[in-house]
Amino acid sequence: MTLGRRAALRALAVLGAAGPVAACQTGGDPAASPTASTRSTPTPPPATPTTPPGPPTSLEAMIEARLGALPDPGAPVGDVKHLSEGLASRACANGTLYASSQGAFLVPADVEARWLTVHNLIGYPTSEVEPWVDGRRQRFWGGNVIIAPGDQAAPLRLDVVVNKLRPLVPLDYSPPDLVQWRGITIRDSIRADAEAMFVAAASQGVTLLAVSGFRTYAYQVSLFEGYQQTSGPEQTLIRSARPGYSEHQTGFAFDVAGDQGCVLSACFAETNAARWVEAHAFEFGFCVRYGLEQGAITGYDYEPWHLRYVGREVAAEMVARKIYTLEQFYGLPAAPNYA
Ligand code: DAL
Ligand code: ZN
Repeated sequence: MTLGRRAALRALAVLGAAGPVAACQTGGDPAASPTASTRSTPTPPPATPTTPPGPPTSLEAMIEARLGALPDPGAPVGDVKHLSEGLASRACANGTLYASSQGAFLVPADVEARWLTVHNLIGYPTSEVEPWVDGRRQRFWGGNVIIAPGDQAAPLRLDVVVNKLRPLVPLDYSPPDLVQWRGITIRDSIRADAEAMFVAAASQGVTLLAVSGFRTYAYQVSLFEGYQQTSGPEQTLIRSARPGYSEHQTGFAFDVAGDQGCVLSACFAETNAARWVEAHAFEFGFCVRYGLEQGAITGYDYEPWHLRYVGREVAAEMVARKIYTLEQFYGLPAAPNYA
């Protein structure tokens, strides 16, 4: 199944829940890796521990084993707490050990502080902390927490996430390495993969056209105001970003069309170009940024034409782990509205 289709299915599970949660739970094991065949709403760990019911001793044994194996947790400062079925924790000097069917992992204090703000979106830890670009990250069931030395909103970084809660800094930012490519403007660093994608599509009989790439702050002002006049404030909010809040301003995003019409329209989803992009864009480092019914997380209506370059490694990991939004991949809060 394709990234976009899976995103759509997963999003339906997300929206069916009381709030945004990591979707794709397998059977009765909320901490297990999601599979394509079984999708339902998982139960994320509560931010605040609840009263311990009958303790599954194996979780305690896992915590004990992890505690004894490496010195990094530091001394325990509390007892084992049973947070929900299949999940237990123990506070230690250097963080908290969490045990689930995925294993027992130390969540260091700085990661934990971030994770607790998004735990309902990304679920339980599934790895230890590991190096990530120029910082650290820890993997969780439905996403990651990234601890980067600089501001992650710094627009030069490939892992920048721009959404309704994360404007460009500065608001009128313009990338330094813009180039012309197939009639639009993009960053030089994404040109090779963008071209490879278009050539691959053509070799399979699918025409891709580049429609809109980098947009300046000033241009986004005119687009946003135009939308407001033609579509009204409500539609504008789910279709067009405020100036300074558009991914297009990073130079890492562009819109595509095909040769079957429906340019930048909902019916584009039914075209060959949209289907191809949905199935193959990730192979070239792109994701369909605003998936079907993912508005509760991304803040926007489905845009099967809007591609965001994240790099081949991240795109492949998103597909492999069935993580369909950048908010979840980077462990950031859902951004349905402006602050
Ligand atoms: N249409 C997308 C959300 C933008 O305006 O950036
Ligand atoms: Zn776009």
